[in-house]
Amino acid sequence: MFRMYDDAVDISLVPQRTLANGLKMPGIGLGTFGSDKYGAEQIAAAVHGALRSGYRLIDCAACYGNEDRIGPVFEEAFGGGLKREEAFIISKVWNDSHGYKNVIESCEKSLKDLRLDYLDGYLVHWPFPNYHAPGCDGDSRNPDSRPYIHEEFMDTWAGVEELVKRGLVRNPGVSNVTIPKLRLILRDAKIKPVLNEMELHPSFQQGELFQFSIDNGLQPIGYCPIGSPSRPERDRSDDDVNDMEMPQLVEIAKKHNVHPALICLKWACQRGQVPIPFSVKPPQYLSNLRAVTEDPLTREEMNVLRSLDRNARMIKGQVFLWPGAKSWLDLWDVDGRIPSWEG
Ligand SMILES: NC(=O)c1ccc[n+]([C@@H]2O[C@H](COP(=O)([O-])OP(=O)(O)OC[C@H]3O[C@@H](n4cnc5c(N)ncnc54)[C@H](OP(=O)(O)O)[C@@H]3O)[C@@H](O)[C@H]2O)c1
Repeated sequence: MFRMYDDAVDISLVPQRTLANGLKMPGIGLGTFGSDKYGAEQIAAAVHGALRSGYRLIDCAACYGNEDRIGPVFEEAFGGGLKREEAFIISKVWNDSHGYKNVIESCEKSLKDLRLDYLDGYLVHWPFPNYHAPGCDGDSRNPDSRPYIHEEFMDTWAGVEELVKRGLVRNPGVSNVTIPKLRLILRDAKIKPVLNEMELHPSFQQGELFQFSIDNGLQPIGYCPIGSPSRPERDRSDDDVNDMEMPQLVEIAKKHNVHPALICLKWACQRGQVPIPFSVKPPQYLSNLRAVTEDPLTREEMNVLRSLDRNARMIKGQVFLWPGAKSWLDLWDVDGRIPSWEG
């Protein structure tokens, strides 16, 4: 029997987003990437508790290595009375499964592991067919890695489109793309992406990509919404900014008498992105959800937070670089061009 906890958040107060195709999604969700720190059982237990606390959006991915543990949690919830159509479950195809046939097989495996008949969102996790060994360090490189090759990406996208046609996926999407890549994808896609998952937190607001996404019918989903304090070593560098220690953000948190993490989430929802904070700790994930249902930030506070953008990307993706690439900046088309083999 599926029962909500006594201290659950009132779901009717959680913001909702309407997607370009008219379907709706919850305005906040739970992340499920354990950052090499939390195990599959702990994360499955968090999904169990989060559903009973009021979360209806869960962000999963094949590469997080825990979909087979989260599946029984979904089966129990939906078998016990939670309506499937009330939930919004995302999964993603990993970089080692690009290509028409592979993406279909990968989605079928995620569905089987998650014990679902369909996914509400299915994303191409990274636009490169490059992958790294689980738990590798930041200097690790795969010699088979390649830059973005549009024709190859569209072959993968054709697989995603086929999944939509088969009714296995309701909302297709992309992740870790740039405006130059999105322009090509939107030009050539027969079924357009409606979700765009990207790194978004106060010190990394990606204003241009955010607006381009909105203008082109893609709902931004913000990963690392509170600055991913538990991220793996390979995703840390000396010049990283710690959002939760930015003095103006701390000041606003004091005024609202909440942890700075909650200010990041209020800001995210009020700006219009869908944050997907991760936590396995019940007090944390409950307070994260509750924060976006009460005590909103003022217009002045939103303006202060807007001024905190430092263009401080944390997830640089350097482990996906190909032989000959100069730096992680090559992954992000910073000069408006998509690098080829020749750079
Ligand atoms: N598409 C992609 O390429 C991509 C990339 C990265 C992440 N994601 C998705 O985005 C999700 C979120 O990103 P993330 O996990 O890296 O970063 P995050 O959500 O910004 O940070 C998660 C960490 O923040 C701390 N935290 C959470 N709630 C808190 C609270 N109320 N008070 C204080 N601390 C709190 C916890 O640290 P402690 O554990 O130390 O308590 C938690 O581990 C992932 O789980 C994954 O689903 C997607």
